[in-house]
Amino acid sequence: MSNKLTNPQILQQMRVLITALKDHNHAYYVLDNPKIDDNEYDQLRRELVELENQHPNLVQLDSPTNQVGDKPLAAFTQVMHDIPMLSLGNVFDEAGLKDFMRKVNDRLAETPTTAMSKNPAYEMELKLDGLAVSLKYEHGAFIQAVTRGDGQTGEDITQNVKTIRNLPLVLPQAKNIEVLEVRGEVLMPKAGFNKLNRQAEENGDKTFANPRNAAAGSLRQLDPAIAGSRPLAFYGYSVNQGLPEEVETQYDALQWLNQLGFTISDTVVVKNADEAMAFYQSVIEKRAGLAFEIDGTVIKVNNLALQESLGYLSREPRWATAFKFPAETVMTTLNAIEWQVGRTGAITPVGKLTPVQVGGVTVSNVTLHNFGEIQRLDVRAGDTVSVHRAGDVIPKVTRVWHERRPDDTTAVTLPSNCPVCDSPVVLPEGEALARCSGGLYCPAQQQEALIHFVSRKAMDIDGLGERWLISFFEHGIVKTVADIYQLKDHQQALTTLEKLGEKSVQNMLVAIEKSKATTLPRFIYALGIRGVGESTALNLAKQFGDLDHIMQADIETLQKTPDVGDVTAELVYDFFRAEHNVEVICRLQQAGVHWQPVTEVSTQAQPLAGQTWVITGTLHQMGRSEAKAKLQALGAKVSGSVSAKTTALLAGEKAGSKLTKAESLGVSIVNEDAFMAMLQ
Ligand code: IVH
Repeated sequence: MSNKLTNPQILQQMRVLITALKDHNHAYYVLDNPKIDDNEYDQLRRELVELENQHPNLVQLDSPTNQVGDKPLAAFTQVMHDIPMLSLGNVFDEAGLKDFMRKVNDRLAETPTTAMSKNPAYEMELKLDGLAVSLKYEHGAFIQAVTRGDGQTGEDITQNVKTIRNLPLVLPQAKNIEVLEVRGEVLMPKAGFNKLNRQAEENGDKTFANPRNAAAGSLRQLDPAIAGSRPLAFYGYSVNQGLPEEVETQYDALQWLNQLGFTISDTVVVKNADEAMAFYQSVIEKRAGLAFEIDGTVIKVNNLALQESLGYLSREPRWATAFKFPAETVMTTLNAIEWQVGRTGAITPVGKLTPVQVGGVTVSNVTLHNFGEIQRLDVRAGDTVSVHRAGDVIPKVTRVWHERRPDDTTAVTLPSNCPVCDSPVVLPEGEALARCSGGLYCPAQQQEALIHFVSRKAMDIDGLGERWLISFFEHGIVKTVADIYQLKDHQQALTTLEKLGEKSVQNMLVAIEKSKATTLPRFIYALGIRGVGESTALNLAKQFGDLDHIMQADIETLQKTPDVGDVTAELVYDFFRAEHNVEVICRLQQAGVHWQPVTEVSTQAQPLAGQTWVITGTLHQMGRSEAKAKLQALGAKVSGSVSAKTTALLAGEKAGSKLTKAESLGVSIVNEDAFMAMLQ
């Protein structure tokens, strides 16, 4: 991509990356408060290295690729390392591992002294997730501990390291060694970390994000007593000065350290890539059960003389590399946002990514959940994003890199129409989730709509099982619920479908016919309108008496139905505004689906059926909603405003304009006492 860019553009990209890396270095090394994940950091760094490799003439003098880490804080004494403390390169998979081994072989072949050493043995260890520290012993006595710092100069943290419980302060077996330098990792075991954070929580103190940060924070304490109270441990991984000459391999050096009294972690010698892979896999398996956190393994040429002849490449040894676990957070580009319709009509945005390996799996799509989430993240097509995936967890966008946003992006808008059926999309006020109003018509929702339609509490077509229904749907015989009543015209096709005998088809068709005689509440419920469950369907049926009135009602009128709130009223309203839904309802009625009007069904038990009541003023013997429920139970419709159609006004104390209006229209007025008497 950068090939097409002009030099000033490349330079600008380099500057953006350099500024970001410097910022992150400071946050990580100096403040012990990283703002990004290690993988994200590595990725930014790799991008810069790549640009620098492609354009060596543009390399910036202050590029962080020239140093490791940042300058240490001034409060601790600074100490120059005798031998620079370098970092490690990374590989993430078998191909990377083999590539590393090939480079080692190539390099060995270049020099006559090592030409015979093709395919050397390697030693492997755990990659401990703590902080690198260099320890110095003189004549077997601990004298100094220094952090890695920028690799050349670190901070003297001797007083703090002295407090680490598993650190040997005296090495009787090393009395004759003038200077011994041991390097290794200071870490905080998981158990100690959890305990520390629990205590911090109880005391209302800040907790640490992870054990590495906790270890770093502890080592940076100016008061050694605090560091001493922290559960730290030291694991040795190399001897950089003073190793006895007879020790010739990394493996033996670690065993020697162990004998001196140092804690070391797992170490094995492997002969080839297969054995290395096997160790790597075994570590993945036991990772969760380990006492401390690791982020991979390290593979080192075992023979120390070969290590020396292989030497170093700017900041990394050629003889070792980190063989890391798959990155769980990775940066990539979100190229587009597509909208999908779920089986329930939910319209969900899906981010289309430039495919990346996250947690060992290629990820090219990521759900953005809903429109609210897009707004929260402020994400656009073209943005650089961080994607996180750990274990079996569904990939998630955890960060949007707004500072890297290209100039030509536009804000995401919710589609006004369903991408599948073109019905209007509705986003009820205050909700994050938008929905397709296509309901019965929308192919994305049809399967769900069909299953609901035939269910026991809906049209109750028990001869038509879910499995058959889905099969008919998949064969294109049934698309919408209205098609169920046309199945009788497809008898031939039905009998040829899997395991459907003539008898079953017959039973099914009888059940379908029978279902045509239904009730209005069942029918309303069967339509599968969002927010309309069984009891709401019943209330709608009672309130409006017939389907036409519900279909024509405006939102305000719908809201007057018991347990129909703003959101449901809007959903019902939108459902009947979608032309396709109306079409399906017409087809159902044409096919013979019918019900008795609610008023006729219930006149006997409901003496107020057909009447419209309005309630106003303060009631003393019951609340207004209770009065409303009582009236509805008796069959009355309860409305919010007085009109010529109002049968009666129940007027409590301090009744205002409604009373005046009722009087002017000649509507009968019932006071609370009269109402109570009537209920009796
Ligand atoms: S050997 C020349 N061995 O990883 C570099 N490092 O990414 C020699 N680390 O700075 C390093 N476990 O802090 C080595 N078993 C291990 C390690 C290890 C963790 C850390 C160390 C180093 C960083 C490099």
